[in-house]
Amino acid sequence: MDAMTQRTAEVGDPLPPGAGGVPSAARGLQAGPAGADPIEVSPIEVSIVGSTGSIGIQALDVVATDPERFRVVALAARRSVEVLATQAKALRPDAVAVADTDMARALAAAVPKGTEVLAGEEGLCEVARRGHVVLNAAVGFAGLPVTLAALESGRRLALANKESLIAGAPVVQRARRTPGAEIVPVDSEHCALHQCLRAGGGGPEVRRLVLTASGGPFRGRHPDDLEDVGVDEALAHPTWRMGPKVTIDSSTLMNKGLEVIEAHELFGVDYDRITVVIHPQSVVHSMVEFTDGATVAQLSLPDMRMPIGYALGYPRRLAHAFGALDWSVLGRLDFELPDRAVFRCLELAEAAGRAGGLVPAWLNAGNEVAVAAFLEHRITWGAIAPVVAETVERFDSPAPSSAGDVVEADRRARLRAEEAVRRLGRAA
Ligand SMILES: NC(=O)c1ccc[n+]([C@@H]2O[C@H](COP(=O)([O-])OP(=O)(O)OC[C@H]3O[C@@H](n4cnc5c(N)ncnc54)[C@H](OP(=O)(O)O)[C@@H]3O)[C@@H](O)[C@H]2O)c1
Repeated sequence: MDAMTQRTAEVGDPLPPGAGGVPSAARGLQAGPAGADPIEVSPIEVSIVGSTGSIGIQALDVVATDPERFRVVALAARRSVEVLATQAKALRPDAVAVADTDMARALAAAVPKGTEVLAGEEGLCEVARRGHVVLNAAVGFAGLPVTLAALESGRRLALANKESLIAGAPVVQRARRTPGAEIVPVDSEHCALHQCLRAGGGGPEVRRLVLTASGGPFRGRHPDDLEDVGVDEALAHPTWRMGPKVTIDSSTLMNKGLEVIEAHELFGVDYDRITVVIHPQSVVHSMVEFTDGATVAQLSLPDMRMPIGYALGYPRRLAHAFGALDWSVLGRLDFELPDRAVFRCLELAEAAGRAGGLVPAWLNAGNEVAVAAFLEHRITWGAIAPVVAETVERFDSPAPSSAGDVVEADRRARLRAEEAVRRLGRAA
């Protein structure tokens, strides 16, 4: 098992020996229990859940740069049948799936003859059991069964869907121990940390992880100006073009809080040794500081196709670059600490992560409900953090023994969050 991404410690444990260590490039791509050493496999077979979204579409761009190296074998989305069918006609995957079973008939009519059509949660899980690498690019907690199916079938999981790891950590970490299973992060910050640890070594020589954040559209703004900002303003991210949920999370810094938990879970580093810094240019994607004071950073243009390609092709890099830094125009790289009084979601997430168990699941559910309510104009931007705080305050889930327990925790938390939305919401 890859020492770097295989978590071996419980929440809050100090960095275990080997965790944060150098990923085993020699081990190559794991094809699953029955597979040959897949670094020799050509093409690498790729399944994508969430292929119609921002990450999914960019992943198809990556695959298109090297058709001899990658072959798409399965695609899935929630209900965007038209886009999915267009992708299926172009790429001829073996299977396609929609989460919404009502859309299965329309999908079957639109895809090329011979394409297997799957539907519902089990359909998505079936997609996640195919190919050498599974990209989970679904949004939100709905990605949990996909993450579990990929890991439990011994696949390499290119993980964009951070919510599944954060909310389901106790069961995801167990699934990660399946022979052949491995997570390679797609989130640019964690992909950067993965590269920094690979370059600089790991284990006990790691002093801390430094996660960078753009600061989002509201960096430097006074709280009084922010209470009632519009949806369009919150969706206007200065450096990244992303789906709506993660863009709103970036505006509140909840995204960075979720990423702190994600870093803890991926690399086994305790919370006292994970630092967040604001870096508005989004060129330094994250850093690792070592015990001798050296810091290794990963820099590249803010383009998600780089980390997506890294995760799909790991341990080999893509032959194609989506642009390169131009040092003659880059000018400067700025860093500052986040304003924790304005962006309360960051501390709410860190506290939930430290509490462990299913508290992050409650935080995540509260946030998903709050963000949806904001996008539907039911609450103000300023009410997102209070909805999340109220949800987490009412936490009452026992330690989970199965994925069903995590789903039940998510369900309960959503009920509490909806109550908070009604209490804190705009008058009709
Ligand atoms: N976008 C980025 O640059 C970025 C960067 C870092 C991390 N991430 C993470 O990557 C994930 C995806 O983000 P995104 O920005 O690509 O989102 P997005 O543009 O909103 O796309 C979401 C995708 O997930 C599918 N989906 C939605 N609900 C689903 C469900 N219940 N079951 C199965 N599939 C479902 C959607 O299908 P339909 O089209 O049918 O609705 C779509 O394909 C998120 O976890 C996000 O935090 C994104």
